[in-house]
This record gives sequence, structure tokens and C-alpha cells, in this order.
Amino acid sequence: MAEIVIVREAAVAGALVADEIVRLIRDKPDAVLGLATGSTPLPVYEALRPRLEGMDVSRVRGFALDEYVGLDPAHPESYRSVITREVVEPLGLDPALIRTPDGSPEGIERHGEEYEASIREAGGIDLQILGIGTDGHIGFNEPGSSFASLTRVKTLTEQTRRDNARFFDSIDDVPMHCITQGLGTILRARHLVLLAFGAGKADAVAGAVEGPVTASLPGSAIQLHPHATVVVDEAAASKLAHADYYRYAYDNKPAWQGL
Ligand code: GLP
Repeated sequence: MAEIVIVREAAVAGALVADEIVRLIRDKPDAVLGLATGSTPLPVYEALRPRLEGMDVSRVRGFALDEYVGLDPAHPESYRSVITREVVEPLGLDPALIRTPDGSPEGIERHGEEYEASIREAGGIDLQILGIGTDGHIGFNEPGSSFASLTRVKTLTEQTRRDNARFFDSIDDVPMHCITQGLGTILRARHLVLLAFGAGKADAVAGAVEGPVTASLPGSAIQLHPHATVVVDEAAASKLAHADYYRYAYDNKPAWQGL
């Protein structure tokens, strides 16, 4: 079972996860982070900023989960731009060590395998940050994605395109295709940290944590992982049947365990 941590507000979640990342970088200065986009991980990146000041992050490596296909990397909403703006620049990471899947249409059929090879060469991902879509997707693995899938091109659902239209002028500008780490890729990371905030995520969180393990709700793949942590606020936790037990377990957690 994943460890479920229910916090008062997103900022508390951000601080908890940032502390864990700092511990990781102290132990392993060339740690490999799995970076997520979307609004959910922002409190983590914000909390990391003051914590990383004065620390040597010059060897920290990172892999983004996903990218739109056919969107100019210079477009402000390409995940390359988002990761640069929200993570690389504020945290002072070396841009040469931070990768995003290559979404350029030229040679797209090979880009997934190339991305997998770079993750392998880096020794795998140490800590993967995850958000979750309202339909239960993680990365851009839409419902139906194979649990064995690796980085590949996917078609976005209408729902995801609608959800993400807020970052574009209109839904018509949201690309139809993406290239995303697969569920199999994500499951290979050594520690998964899934965050979710707000009532809009309550169904997806309940399905991922307590529902059956099913490709119909890709986030439920975390139940197969030996070290998964789910950090949610009260609203996102509101449909969890065993919330009291999760609180009790966390309150009585041995200090040596870490996150
Ligand atoms: C996008 C990203 C996902 C993210 C999801 C939720 O689809 N590809 O990685 O988890 O949006 O976004 P938000 O965190 O903004 O709710």
C-alpha cells in the first residue's frame, strides 16, 4: 500500500516533499529527479527554492514526464519551457542535465526509445513527482494505458485537452498528441510521490489509492509500487474510505522511516 499523507494545505505538502528531495540530494548529489508539470507540483518547487540555496545542485539531473507533440519547444506552454521556467531557473539547476521527451514530429517514432535510453544511462529515476488528472491519468497515460508501457506517443482525451485549455487561448490550440513516460517507466522509479489538491481530484485519488488496480484508472498503478507516497489535502482526501487509518498510521510513524 502507498503511504497516504493528508495535510491541511498544499504548502504543507510542498514543504514535506521538498524536505525529502533535499535529503535525497544530500545523500546523492547527482540524484535523478522525475519532474512533473501542471499546477500541482508548484508548491514543491516553491518550497525547494529556499531549501536549495547554498546547496550544490550542479550535478542534479532531471527527466520530465511528458511533452506535447508538435508544439514548438520555445512555446511558453511546451513542457520544456514550463520546466525551464518553473524548475530549472528558480532552482539553479544545470539545464544541460534536465531532459524532456522530444516532441518534435521529425523522427517522433524513435523519440520514446531514445528517452528510455537516457533514463537508463542516468541509472534510473530516484524520486518521481506525480500529479494526477481528473480522469486518473499520470504523466499523460490516459485511461487504458498498459501497465507495461514505456515512453511513447499517446492521443490526449477530450477531457484532458479541456482541462489543459486554460493554459492556451482555446481548446483548439491544445495539441492532440503527446509523448509521455509510460506506466512501466514510472513504476521503475525508486520512489513515487503523487500529489493532489482540491475536491476536483477526490475521485481520481480514491480510485488510485483504494480502487481496483486497473488500466481504466492509470494512477492505480501506484498500488504496484513498493515505495509510493501520496500527499493530499483534505479536499482531495475527502473520498478516501480509510482516511482515519492513514492519519493514524502517519501520526504513529517511526521517525527513522522518512517519507
Ligand atoms: C497534465 C500533466 C500531468 C498532470 C495533470 C494534472 O495532464 N501531463 O502530469 O498531473 O496535467 O494537472 P494539474 O496538476 O494542473 O491539475
